[in-house]
Amino acid sequence: MSDTKPRILRSVRLLNAAEKRIETDFIAPPPPTTPLDTAAILKLAHEFQPVAILVTHHSPLKGADVAALPESVKLIATVSVGLDHLDVPALLARGIAVSNTPDVLTDCNADLAMMLIIAACRRAAEYYTLMKKGWGHTLGMDEMLGHRVTGKTLGIIGVGRIGQAVARRARGFEMNVLYHNRRRLDPTHEQGATYYESLEDMLPKCNILSLHLPAAPSGGPIITARTLALLPRGSVLVNAARGALVDETALIDALRSGHLFSAGLDVYQNEPNPDPRILALPNVFMTPHAGSATVETRTAMCMLALDNVTALVAGKPLPTPVTA
Ligand code: DGY
Repeated sequence: MSDTKPRILRSVRLLNAAEKRIETDFIAPPPPTTPLDTAAILKLAHEFQPVAILVTHHSPLKGADVAALPESVKLIATVSVGLDHLDVPALLARGIAVSNTPDVLTDCNADLAMMLIIAACRRAAEYYTLMKKGWGHTLGMDEMLGHRVTGKTLGIIGVGRIGQAVARRARGFEMNVLYHNRRRLDPTHEQGATYYESLEDMLPKCNILSLHLPAAPSGGPIITARTLALLPRGSVLVNAARGALVDETALIDALRSGHLFSAGLDVYQNEPNPDPRILALPNVFMTPHAGSATVETRTAMCMLALDNVTALVAGKPLPTPVTA
């Protein structure tokens, strides 16, 4: 093994194609058998002196962690589009570049959001539970009825790449799509959705609300008792973005009271151990923060993270840099 190759660390084992590339192009410790936490990454970084570290949202690097990184580290390449686990300004201020993996996961995340929308509307969680228990009786004509999505109004908060891809898919399901964003999109990107400058004006019109915005670094949740009350009774909430966007106690109250018909959740305030009150609700369809979890997408994400490392060591512009 030549020591002229760049030294890198990764907080998780990557997909096979990326692991092969690490073997060929880099010097790295053996792949971790379980994801490394921040303390383990810092310890290893001091022992190993890597030029780059590949992380995921499971291994946050904030405040004192950033200050504790060894001088050798010149790039944090996160294998995610989300950046809320990183203190980007602090990293950049230390002269450490940051890259993420946008675009390659857009379709998978949007597919998962559609899955949550349809599953929540069609009571998939309750059907699945019933079948696992053994079914056992023919459903009555009006028993366990869900709601069709055709013709329903979907409100989207946040129309970056993923929000736009959800809007495109929802139009394919003949849904009426509204969106709220910090700025109106150019009409060529609106995907037939209607812009609402005010959330207060949009929410009362939504049968389904889907979140596609990043978690604000210091902001509180956008979905609170107040915003939930603006949705019509019997509506559906979907969150495939970040758990911090939702006040979960307010969500639980709305689901218990029937103000919300159901919810579809991929993300939670406390991952990987969501609030047990959410787990106990029959009308929540849940997935384990798996928006990008396909072979194709995760492979593309790992390769893109490595492309950023390769560019860094070659002194070339990063393919997907994160700027302040
Ligand atoms: C992302 O890429 O941000 C996914 O949510 C995984 O963290």
